Amino acid sequence: MALPPPPPYIIYFFLLFIMLICSSTAQTQRNISLGSPLTAAKNGLFWESPSGDFAFGFQQIGKGGFLLAIWFNKIPERTIVWSANRENLVQEGSKVELTKLGLVLEDSKGNQIWASGISGIDVAYGAMLDTGNLVLANNNSANLWESFNKPTDTLLVGQTLSQNMKLVARYSETNYSSGRYHFILQSDGNLVLYTRTFPLDTPNFPYWESSTQNSGFQLIFNQSESSTQNSGFQLIFNQSGYIYLEAKNGTILDMLTSNNNAAQDFYQRAILEYDGVLRQYVYPKKNDRSSSGWNMTWTQSSTSIPSNICLAIREGRGSGACGYNSYCVLGNDQRPSCHCPNSYTFIDPSDKMKGCKQAFEAQSCDEDSRDADDFDFISMENTDWPETDYEKFQMVNEDFCRRACLGDCFCVLVFFRDGRCWKKGHPLSNGRVDPSLGGKALIKIRINNSTLKTGGTNSKKKDQSTLVLVGSVLLSSSVFMNVLLAAAIFVLFRFRQKSKVIKQNQFLPDMNLQTFTYAKLEKATNGFKELLGRGSFAGVFKGVLSFDNCECLVAVKKLEHMVKENEQEFKAEVITIGCTNHKNLVRLIGFCNEGMHRLLIYEYMSNGSLASFLFGQLKPKWHQRMHIALGIARGLFYLHEECSTQILHCDIKPQNILLDDSYTARISDFGLAKILKPDQTRTTTGIRGTKGYVAPEWFRNMPVTVKVDVYSYGILLLELICCRKNVEEDVKDDAQIILADWAYDCYADGKLDFLVENDDEASQDMEKYVMVALWCIQEDPLLRPTMKKVTLMLEGTIEVSVPPDPTSFISSI
Ligand SMILES: *[C@@H]1O[C@H](CO)[C@@H](O)[C@H](O)[C@H]1NC(C)=O
Ligand SMILES: *[C@@H]1O[C@H](CO)[C@@H](O)[C@H](O)[C@H]1NC(C)=O
Ligand SMILES: *[C@@H]1O[C@H](CO)[C@@H](O)[C@H](O)[C@H]1NC(C)=O
Repeated sequence: MALPPPPPYIIYFFLLFIMLICSSTAQTQRNISLGSPLTAAKNGLFWESPSGDFAFGFQQIGKGGFLLAIWFNKIPERTIVWSANRENLVQEGSKVELTKLGLVLEDSKGNQIWASGISGIDVAYGAMLDTGNLVLANNNSANLWESFNKPTDTLLVGQTLSQNMKLVARYSETNYSSGRYHFILQSDGNLVLYTRTFPLDTPNFPYWESSTQNSGFQLIFNQSESSTQNSGFQLIFNQSGYIYLEAKNGTILDMLTSNNNAAQDFYQRAILEYDGVLRQYVYPKKNDRSSSGWNMTWTQSSTSIPSNICLAIREGRGSGACGYNSYCVLGNDQRPSCHCPNSYTFIDPSDKMKGCKQAFEAQSCDEDSRDADDFDFISMENTDWPETDYEKFQMVNEDFCRRACLGDCFCVLVFFRDGRCWKKGHPLSNGRVDPSLGGKALIKIRINNSTLKTGGTNSKKKDQSTLVLVGSVLLSSSVFMNVLLAAAIFVLFRFRQKSKVIKQNQFLPDMNLQTFTYAKLEKATNGFKELLGRGSFAGVFKGVLSFDNCECLVAVKKLEHMVKENEQEFKAEVITIGCTNHKNLVRLIGFCNEGMHRLLIYEYMSNGSLASFLFGQLKPKWHQRMHIALGIARGLFYLHEECSTQILHCDIKPQNILLDDSYTARISDFGLAKILKPDQTRTTTGIRGTKGYVAPEWFRNMPVTVKVDVYSYGILLLELICCRKNVEEDVKDDAQIILADWAYDCYADGKLDFLVENDDEASQDMEKYVMVALWCIQEDPLLRPTMKKVTLMLEGTIEVSVPPDPTSFISSI
């Protein structure tokens, strides 16, 4: 009666089936034995370290193919820390196998793409270790090959960089192939960051160095022993998260980072990123709700190496930190971004390093068709393209400088500073914006496309209406904002001291700002321990303070630098900000001004910024997003119309919207705010705000009104509707890169569903919101509604009419 035993092959297939099911979720293979292949496939198998922290296998990279890699396996990001075939992605079906000659990667056609390459001794087994090191060992468990000895762009805890070892940055955020930067511990002991002569591997210019080389000078004047004592022997990333350069005798020569994040609590990595900056990141191992992914770590003195890549790279050949004809700005997040000057556009918007091109016909060099009248200048303060000048004049004025460039068809811009004038031609290189530069760049642009000559009176008028785009530096808002607030506080403080006899209320009407001592704030923040965020020149720390009879959580902004600026205006601004009081604005509680210390104390917002909420792992619910949209609208309406003085925020973007306990939107960072006197409705001023959210009139010679905030709000509303960033390069179709353009296309084609894929809740009433957003982003400021009207439309009190194409108003100014 007993059933015959099943044939062995059935059992075999059954076991194979079970293995296939289990292996993609849990693979705790300790030792990798010879002959076990892994195949490149979606959700393919991988080899895990015993703890599961790291895995080795294939990772799909966009649509390009698969990378044989090691990654952090317990975090959703699956961050890659090492790869074998970065230059040569392989297709589905390729496989890697452990042979006694080492690891061999073959593509789907059987061609060898990569091999770990071990000669002489046979490999017995491999192991993915919990440190992130993949090792191949012989029978005696001696390591024959380690991934730690062949780093790509990342260093892990426990890994050392010995002499002649280097990190090579990737090409871009999403392209893992070798990029433009090297980080190398040279054989002379110097630790150096280099640009390379892309696409060749040869080093070009160093832009940072530890200066720990074993120099000839030392050899001559010191004993050779003592000279090697001062040269770098190895770079160590230790268990506490310190990264330092050590001499042969163990002396620490250069402490790169000292963060003291214990390896048992944090995942850590240091990476030479595609922008040429070496950064250290930590990720809490405990699934901590408040943390969002990898956080950059910061030390007292520096935030990254180099601290400002835009300024650090300055090379006689090569384009600098950004592509030719573009300029580099260090953002609030300490990351560089590349921009084109006005009237220039990116050659390839998906690869900004390719640089910018003139978006107008160049000036003719032909004597007969003199068209100097058709050109004028855009002025950018504190902006320069050093190393590109071909002529220099001394002891001249700005007018001479302008005329010299207008009359020279080779001249594309002049840089003017303190009576000196430099003429520059294409391609412009090393473009940068920084307050330390001083002076201004005058960029020659075509203002008249018609070939008709303009009359004398006309050209005179044009002189007066020269486009002045003062200080694009303000795009990197945080520097400006902190300087501004610091100066304001300083002035306020001085003012208060001088007029102690006057009651506070007499010159600070309704202002309820408190002063705190530095000691108290130091205590409140536990010695500035918990960093919430960081911008240039300021860190924001979490603290607990008692005031107003309560123990409250606060965010303490610690300003690091102090620059004297236009005092009258700043005083007015801080007073105004101190006076605002609305449930959709973050409240400034007080400040500290003591010796060198300048701090601002804000309410603590437990749910972080809208940026991390909106663009994080989980897509927030539609009703939550629209609740936030309405809150921001109400906050702006208050600033524009309900304050005693009208306030323009000028920098509305998701990073500047914080969320409180109940996920109510609270507008923050009034640093750029511009106050309009009661009788003033428009202002002309330098560019403020953040590119992408900046209304077009900033770039034109047009007055700036509250409508600039309406524009930024419109962009933000689209982001809230679609849960994506305004500019997204990793999209299916190029038409989707710029959200504003895509949204209008979808609206015009009646295909709004495309905007919110798989979001049923959204698709029901999103049309109204898209229409409101399209009204807000009209290029013509007059067509944009007021924030009051926006609020009423969102609330459903008034109907929304059909919006025109936002770009139909093409200004020829
Ligand atoms: C891996 O194999 C080596 C050599 O055979 C052995 O010494 C070691 O204990 C093995 N490790 C594990 C975790 O199985
Ligand atoms: C990555 O960039 C390199 C260098 O420009 C290029 O050759 C390669 O095709 C890119 N790879 C992908 C997958 O886009
Ligand atoms: C890491 O290095 C720092 C600086 O030398 C030292 O203070 C710390 O104790 C080290 N940590 C470990 C775990 O060795």
